Amino acid sequence: MSAEDQKRAAGEAAVRLIEPGMIVGLGTGSTAAHFVRALAIHRVDVRGVATSEATADLARLLKIPLLELDEAKDIDVTVDGADEIGPGLSLIKGGGGALLREKLVWECSRRCVVIADAAKRVPVLGAFPLPIEVVAFGHATTLRRIEAVFERFGMPVFPHLRLRDGAVVRTDNGNLIYDAACGAIEDPAGLATALKAVTGVVEHGLFLNLATTALVGTDGGVDTVGV
Ligand code: 5RP
Repeated sequence: MSAEDQKRAAGEAAVRLIEPGMIVGLGTGSTAAHFVRALAIHRVDVRGVATSEATADLARLLKIPLLELDEAKDIDVTVDGADEIGPGLSLIKGGGGALLREKLVWECSRRCVVIADAAKRVPVLGAFPLPIEVVAFGHATTLRRIEAVFERFGMPVFPHLRLRDGAVVRTDNGNLIYDAACGAIEDPAGLATALKAVTGVVEHGLFLNLATTALVGTDGGVDTVGV
């Protein structure tokens, strides 16, 4: 089974958790897109809260009604992908650059279901570069402070400004992203707190104590981790 087939299977499995009338957080990325398409195919009567402009565009195309986060307030369940799934459903997210809106939506959700292909499961987080969203003003100064945080954690990490086709990537919020090739992150909670404390850092891609369930596509079917 290809990774894409595993992602599709996980997205379709997640639709079975959705009940008519629910307010559903719609994640970002290729796996989340499988879920959004499956919602439309199965004509599940829900209202969505999109975590990115790309997902909002897809939902509108598929005629899934959308709410702004401030209109929804409480979200029944959010279904989203991840770049890595580590111990205790700790995650790295933000490969698609939507980490800030994703975290805002996840934190308002009663249940957060992460969907992924099997390769995303790792024994320790950090092989995937950790995305860190920063405000554009003074970003090189913010970068130096971020590097100092990594140094304090004994991690010689020099994050790279995210570019696409040679141009600096701007998030949906107009911010920049630095990708930090950390290697093994031994203390994700400590690092998360320290990064968040840097002025100029808007958000980072460590999603800790947020996911309640993972649905992981494998060659043998979809594995459920958590509740
Ligand atoms: C976007 C994300 C995505 O969920 C993550 O990058 C996984 O993407 P994909 O499902 O395409 O592998 O966090 O910001």
